[in-house]
Order: sequence, then structure tokens, then C-alpha cells
Amino acid sequence: MRIAFLMDPIERVLIDKDTTFALALEAQARGHEVFTLGPHDLRAADGTVYARLSPTKVQRVAPPAHATVGPAVDTDLRTIDALFVRTDPPFDSTYLYVTQLLEIVRDRVLVLNDPRGLRDANEKLYALHFPEVMPRTIVTTREDDIRAFLEALGGPGVIKPLDGAGGRGIMVLDLRDQNFRSIIETTTDAGRRYCMVQEYLPAVRKGDKRILLLEGEPLGAILRVPRADEARSNIHVGGRVEPVELDDDDRRIVAAVAPKLRADGLVFVGLDVIGGRLTEVNVTSPTGIQELSRFTGTQPEAKVIAWIEQRVRARRAD
Ligand SMILES: Nc1ncnc2c1ncn2[C@@H]1O[C@H](COP(=O)(O)OP(=O)(O)O)[C@@H](O)[C@H]1O
Ligand SMILES: [Mg+2]
Repeated sequence: MRIAFLMDPIERVLIDKDTTFALALEAQARGHEVFTLGPHDLRAADGTVYARLSPTKVQRVAPPAHATVGPAVDTDLRTIDALFVRTDPPFDSTYLYVTQLLEIVRDRVLVLNDPRGLRDANEKLYALHFPEVMPRTIVTTREDDIRAFLEALGGPGVIKPLDGAGGRGIMVLDLRDQNFRSIIETTTDAGRRYCMVQEYLPAVRKGDKRILLLEGEPLGAILRVPRADEARSNIHVGGRVEPVELDDDDRRIVAAVAPKLRADGLVFVGLDVIGGRLTEVNVTSPTGIQELSRFTGTQPEAKVIAWIEQRVRARRAD
């Protein structure tokens, strides 16, 4: 197969952490041709989409030798079997147009995740479809809504910009904090932007569980434990990664979310679960596969590529 990765610059990859790198290594190890491209490398013409694809070889050695990137060749994307969209947020207009361009070849190229699903799902808002497994949450532009919500909660909350990732912009919100109004003003741009406010889950001190799913089935989970001086557990801001098992709450969450994920073509997804409650559904570039692979030895990256092989075979047979 010919597998392409639409990704952030490969030079900056962390070879022992990056999920995209692990998927590329696995694809190559299974004999597939690997190509890379960035979000600005698409071109639509003549009813199809072309891409400046660089043939890429990867190996698990220190940069810069970890990736050998050949010169980009303008290629009809329909000659590619599968394309991973793996750029990190923000979900900006370029990202939106990428999903709309990929729509044109959607029936010919297996795109992960489905460009329609990527376009429709906001990582924070998607969880609102499953209130029965979510912590108490509001989405609003208004300070008075937030104040009333926290008064009803009787405890602290967490405020989140809707376009954040890697912990960016996440703050603990307390009615008694002198910065209370200023934090809301900053996050909502004085009432012009929506934000999410969620009940603060004290269980976060034990960790934020990342459950990786492949077509709604758990590949496994890892736990991200925040630094002692941090509210955020994200690996990007110093969260420590530990092995963890799925428990009954997690299985209940997966069962609630899986049918919609499948219907939306959201094949490779990372759920964030704190204290048995679903806080976020990561669909754009979920990470954690390397840690999961090391902890469990179950080769989750191989399962992802095997899934693609089987799907592409089924498509060809049609
Ligand atoms: N409801 C919550 N209660 C306590 N901590 C939270 C809550 N929601 C998020 N956090 C903390 O903030 C981090 C990032 O939140 P998340 O919603 O996953 O956004 P993102 O990972 O996209 O930045 C979590 O790993 C966790 O440490
Ligand atoms: Mg998260």
C-alpha cells in the first residue's frame, strides 16, 4: 500500500513519544510505502486533488537521522491507498479547507479520520452528546452563566477554550479568586468567544486516563499524572505517564461513545477520562500509542495499520 501522513514537520518529531512517528514506522515495517506532506501541500484541479508527497523513510534513531525525506512529487492523491490526517490543533481555516479538499477524494482514498467526522467534531463539544458519562458542564460566552453554574456546583470549576489542546488555556476557576472575572474575560474575549466550564474533578490528582480507540474498540489506556504544581495532566506540560487498566466506568463510557464514533468515521480516537467521567474526545491527532505499546507489549500501532490493510483490501474488492 501507499500510505501518506499529513502532519506537522517531521524534523520536530519526538521519536519516543510521537504517535504519528510510531504509525509511520509500523507502516514501513509492514512493507508499505510511506509519504509525508504538510497542510499546505494539497492542490485541487481537474476534479481531483493532488498533493506534494515526499517519499519518507523512518527509523528509530536520534534526529535528524530519524527521517529521510525525499523531494516532494506532485501526485494525484487517488494513487494513495490511505491518508492519515495528523496535524495538531488548532482547528483553523487551513484545517477546515483540508477536510473539504479531502472530501473530493473521500471515496477513493481511505482518510483517517474521515474528513467529515473531523470537520463536524469539536474535541471539547463532542462529549456533550454523552451527558450521562460527562461531568457537569456548560458551554457559554457569558460570565453570569458561569457564575450561576459555579454557585450551583458549590465548588471550583475548570474553564477551557474550545480550540485548545495540550492543556493550553485550561485554568481552574474559583468564585473567590480575585482573577475570576479576568480569566473569563480573557478566555471568552470579553463575551465574544464560547468556552466550556466544567466541574473540577478532584480525581485528576490521580491522573487523566487516555483511552485509545480503534473503530470504537479500546486499544488500551495510559494514565497521565499531573506534576505536583500543575492542574493539567497533559504530557506536553510535564504529565508523567503510567500504565493503567480500563475499569467498569471506562467500559461504560466506551460503550456510550463507540456507536457515534463509528457512524462519524472517527476511527482512531483518544478519550480523556478523569475519575470515571468523560472530559474530552480527541479526534484530530490523539497521542499515547508509544507509551501504550511499551507498557502493554500489545502493539497497538500494528493493530491500526492492520485495520487499514484490511479496509483497503475490502475497498479494492468492491
Ligand atoms: N473537569 C476537570 N477537572 C479537573 N481537571 C481537569 C478537568 N478537565 C480538564 N482538566 C485538566 O486539564 C487537562 C487538559 O484538559 P482537556 O479537557 O483534556 O483539554 P486538552 O487536553 O485538549 O488541553 C487535563 O489533563 C486535566 O489535568
Ligand atoms: Mg486532553
